[in-house]
Amino acid sequence: MSAHPVLAVEGIDTYYGRSHVLFDLSLEVGAGETVALIGNNGAGKTTTLRSIMGLTPPERGRILFRGEEIQGCKPNEIRRRGVSLVPEDRRIFPSLTVAENVELAAAAGSTTTDVYDRFPVLDDRRDQRAGTLSGGEQQMLAIARGLVGPPTELLLLDEPTEGLAPQIVEDVSEVVEALTDDGITILLVEQNAELALELADRAYVIETGRIVHEAGGDELLHDPEVLETHLGVR
Ligand SMILES: Nc1ncnc2c1ncn2[C@@H]1O[C@H](COP(=O)(O)OP(=O)(O)OP(=O)(O)O)[C@@H](O)[C@H]1O
Ligand SMILES: [Mg+2]
Repeated sequence: MSAHPVLAVEGIDTYYGRSHVLFDLSLEVGAGETVALIGNNGAGKTTTLRSIMGLTPPERGRILFRGEEIQGCKPNEIRRRGVSLVPEDRRIFPSLTVAENVELAAAAGSTTTDVYDRFPVLDDRRDQRAGTLSGGEQQMLAIARGLVGPPTELLLLDEPTEGLAPQIVEDVSEVVEALTDDGITILLVEQNAELALELADRAYVIETGRIVHEAGGDELLHDPEVLETHLGVR
């Protein structure tokens, strides 16, 4: 195991204008781990991912990727180094085809073949307009867009199962497991706590911009009090 965790967020404070959203927030993700960040609406999950990706940089604290500070870097520089974000709203281009969406996300000249091997459902639909894909297929496309271009070492997934039917949630969950098997480190944001905990090695619970609990996935899953207190699930 390497000396550094893949990701170390150290005491960040993030604002939107004057609105203080993240408070002294710290978390770590080790090489090959899947770590879940769970919490209710408005808790600061997306803002945490945006902070890491350089989209909404923190005003205080440090973010280390493989031991190097990235909190001052631009999003494209952070992407080039190996961090990739699959945003909550999926951000695909509905009027473009699957293939055009994939090519736009890839760096010029980089190969997109691997992604079609990983997502046969997209391979079959290369010429279909993305807006006509099912919700689950659109999510696969969003993940595919995160994987093309410079190699992804750390994948930030923002609520990949939001709005999907249970059977499709299962498909997305299998994709996440396959990525883990390929050695990709994952920080997974979910409101579906049970799914997150099923996939994750560890989990952090975030509440109003603060980490209020950290635990192994099994521990959280089997501690009804934690789930009820922090997430209102049982
Ligand atoms: N662009 C913005 N400008 C101002 N405030 C914002 C902005 N984006 C988010 N916020 C506020 O920051 C807080 C955290 O929002 P964030 O989107 O990180 O939460 P979340 O945990 O991802 O919620 P959800 O589960 O609904 O996606 C909320 O109070 C939200 O209203
Ligand atoms: Mg969010």
